[in-house]
Amino acid sequence: MKSAYTAVQLLTKKRDGAALEPAEIRWLIDAFTQGVVTDYQMSAFAMAVLLRGMTEHETAALTLAMRDSGRRAHLRSARGPKLDKHSTGGVGDKVSICLAPLVAACGARVPMISGRGLGHTGGTLDKLEAIPGFSVNQSLTRFERLVKNYGFALIGQTRDLAPADRKLYALRDVTATVESIPLITASILSKKLAEDLDGLVLDVKVGRGAFMKTLPEARALARSIVKVGTAAGVKVSALLTRMDAPLGRTVGNALETAEAFEVLLGGGADDLVECTLALGAEMLCLGGLAKTPTQARRMLEAAIASGRAADMLEDLIAAQGGDRRVVREPDRLPRAPHRVVVTAPRSGRVQDLDAMAIAQVALRLGAGRTRADQQIDPRVGIVLLKKPGNAVRKGEALAQLHTTTAQAARRELPNVLAAYRLGTAAPKLAPLVIERIAR
Ligand code: URA
Repeated sequence: MKSAYTAVQLLTKKRDGAALEPAEIRWLIDAFTQGVVTDYQMSAFAMAVLLRGMTEHETAALTLAMRDSGRRAHLRSARGPKLDKHSTGGVGDKVSICLAPLVAACGARVPMISGRGLGHTGGTLDKLEAIPGFSVNQSLTRFERLVKNYGFALIGQTRDLAPADRKLYALRDVTATVESIPLITASILSKKLAEDLDGLVLDVKVGRGAFMKTLPEARALARSIVKVGTAAGVKVSALLTRMDAPLGRTVGNALETAEAFEVLLGGGADDLVECTLALGAEMLCLGGLAKTPTQARRMLEAAIASGRAADMLEDLIAAQGGDRRVVREPDRLPRAPHRVVVTAPRSGRVQDLDAMAIAQVALRLGAGRTRADQQIDPRVGIVLLKKPGNAVRKGEALAQLHTTTAQAARRELPNVLAAYRLGTAAPKLAPLVIERIAR
């Protein structure tokens, strides 16, 4: 049968600034998924979109075509609203690991499909894989069963979920076409819509440790995802949250996993708890499980206080092959052989802590990867004993490095110290949540 379009015809139309019709976009994505449209043609398409932009209508068509390029989860038989959260990625962001069981403990279903870290931002899958035996590789059928039986699941993207996004993202990564709001919108939403959700909350990180460095960029991405997601029939809202300093007190995979467990047991750094509760409250309100954010926060706090959320995480860890004891006995997580303390050169208050500088230290220690095929070391990282606003005495510990060799610790010690700015005045700390964007 003769094809309705040719790739060159559609590329020319987009290159010259015209808007593509939904049928044209669907043809292009289907043909790309099947290998009829080549990688070099699709790379040219990505560049044309980056330079020319897309209308909201085109972005929605691209999102739905990418969602439909593979299988979709079917969670209709699971009780409760199906809710998820997506973060644009930050330093020390381990929120998904405590948020999913917490929201599930309040009556929602949380079908959470996460990604791996690349570059300076960490990935939830890498953090989860620090748990001995835990497998993030589950089939879509098993994923559906886990969500139904345990209220949530924590897995990686399966091969058959939004395959067009996986193919296109690999091309964007090497053709300088990642930074396009329509392409990011379609990439994030196609995977999330394939999870069969009722509601999605976005955590758009803003600041020097984030993908979006400025407020206008973060707002534009949040607005685009909220509009397109809502048009696709899902309730979507976004919180813009600050990412200038790392979130919580740890950066590095096993260390971060242990810190997420701590939140479920009633502890955790103030900013991490605040981020978790703010996103959780947003999810419960979107799903109709709470009428107000205040009521939602009370529900979340009760799920922590009763131990119910921690119990649910233990059950899920066991169901996904892991050692359930790690939640209440985090010393069972892998530990680095060397620990070196970074001390304060003078007394004062921490004015600032550079998330990007700390992320670079973690990357060099082996906690992250600069290429998708690199191995990571789950044991290494940094514990930030002092954060902005904290007082410190000369000689007191600011941070602790967890490393594989004493040499690595010695090499990175000055870099951790340089990430801290000490002063005498009490710094004015801006609130973590900057603003909320909804339809
Ligand atoms: N995360 C995604 O999943 N896709 C993008 O395009 C950017 C961030």
